[in-house]
Amino acid sequence: MKAYRSALLYFKPGAQPSQSAVYEADGLLVVGPDAGGRQVVQAIGPYHTLQPRYPQVPVSHWPGRLIAPGFVDLHSHYPQTNVIGSPAAGLLPWLENYTFPEEKRFSAHEYSTQSAIFFIAEMLRNGVTTALTFATSHPTSVQALFTQARQSRLRLITGLCLMDRHAPADVLNRSAPGGQTDATEQSLIDSEGLLQQWHGVDRLGYAITPRFAPTSTDAQLRGAGELAAKYPDVWIQSHVAENRDEIQWARALFPASRSYLATYDDFGLMRQRAIYAHCIHFDDDDRALMRDTGAAAAVCPTSNLFLGSGFFDYTGADRVGVQYGLASDVGGGTSFSPFHTMLAAYYVGREGQTKPGLSLSPQHLWWQHTAGAARALGLDGVVGNLQPGCEADFVVLNPQATPLLARRTALANSLDELLFAMMVLGDDRLVEKVVISQAL
Ligand code: GUN
Ligand code: ZN
Repeated sequence: MKAYRSALLYFKPGAQPSQSAVYEADGLLVVGPDAGGRQVVQAIGPYHTLQPRYPQVPVSHWPGRLIAPGFVDLHSHYPQTNVIGSPAAGLLPWLENYTFPEEKRFSAHEYSTQSAIFFIAEMLRNGVTTALTFATSHPTSVQALFTQARQSRLRLITGLCLMDRHAPADVLNRSAPGGQTDATEQSLIDSEGLLQQWHGVDRLGYAITPRFAPTSTDAQLRGAGELAAKYPDVWIQSHVAENRDEIQWARALFPASRSYLATYDDFGLMRQRAIYAHCIHFDDDDRALMRDTGAAAAVCPTSNLFLGSGFFDYTGADRVGVQYGLASDVGGGTSFSPFHTMLAAYYVGREGQTKPGLSLSPQHLWWQHTAGAARALGLDGVVGNLQPGCEADFVVLNPQATPLLARRTALANSLDELLFAMMVLGDDRLVEKVVISQAL
């Protein structure tokens, strides 16, 4: 067992997200192994009442710091680290000119391994301790990422990117050598093999990953849906309703579906643990479909602003009851920092809604990137919070990390002011230490 004394931030389970944060000015976080040997939170609360219950437990004291749950990033692309900040007229030219040429390099194991090492380190350095991310269509890109994530103990969910049409040949799934199976069949065989090899190993999980409807045939989407039915506890990830040209393309390819989103439902790809990135251009029937199936939206504000895709409609999502959480969407997104993502989400709330705009509270934004994102993944009570039983993943933040942060946070008169100052002024420099749940 081990304990940390510091200011603490965590979330009341079940509370309204905008009112759910708990701040303990002088708190104690006690961590220790559970029955399975994982380090989990044993207790959290005020130092003076909790410490006497754990007299033998060594305390590490962090004066002036804030301990908060590790961040949960609901959507990113590890093979796009090198194309972050590449400008384009919109999503489709960005994919064609930057993304696909970079992703083809992940057919090489060594390239994938080096990229995975960098990506994982960058996530952790920024305080992200759980990430759902895309790999490429090359099985080696998935093997490399899982292998490295296992070593780092980042909680990571990924899967083979399924794309069997409408992209350059070197980023599409490939048929088996010798031609016994076609590319579509092979992509599903490879997905199932990787799933069986990695899902549930340590902190790793598998996500069935059709890139987006336009780059999959009916047969591939049908196969992905069959895999999802066979393995009900794996994740599903894809993209939807991000960009108007993309939507037009998807509608033309799947005219029988009620909407772009409904295409995924028609192939059995909507359920709990299905995470759809962007979800911008929705109507209320789409929102109701998200709600009724238990699928969740990964809100990617830096990406949506950078690529000019549009704005996630928070008002609509809340009105209908869609689950959502925040995501970097690196490399369409512009930053690995959850602070940058939360600030961008705030801007989207202010200016991207039908009038009047929202003022999303910093507690709500923080929740969206921690407990809310964990809930969207079906990992409520496992990560994204510091409730007893949660895996002991947390960040130690230093509100004095820069001269301006120190000056501004010293003047904060409330929790919301403190959180806002960190969201607006913070980045990786705020993150002094990242602690990841170890296994004994
Ligand atoms: N839609 C399909 N592929 C992608 C991708 O790599 N990034 C984004 N932002 N949208 C996509
Ligand atoms: Zn994406």
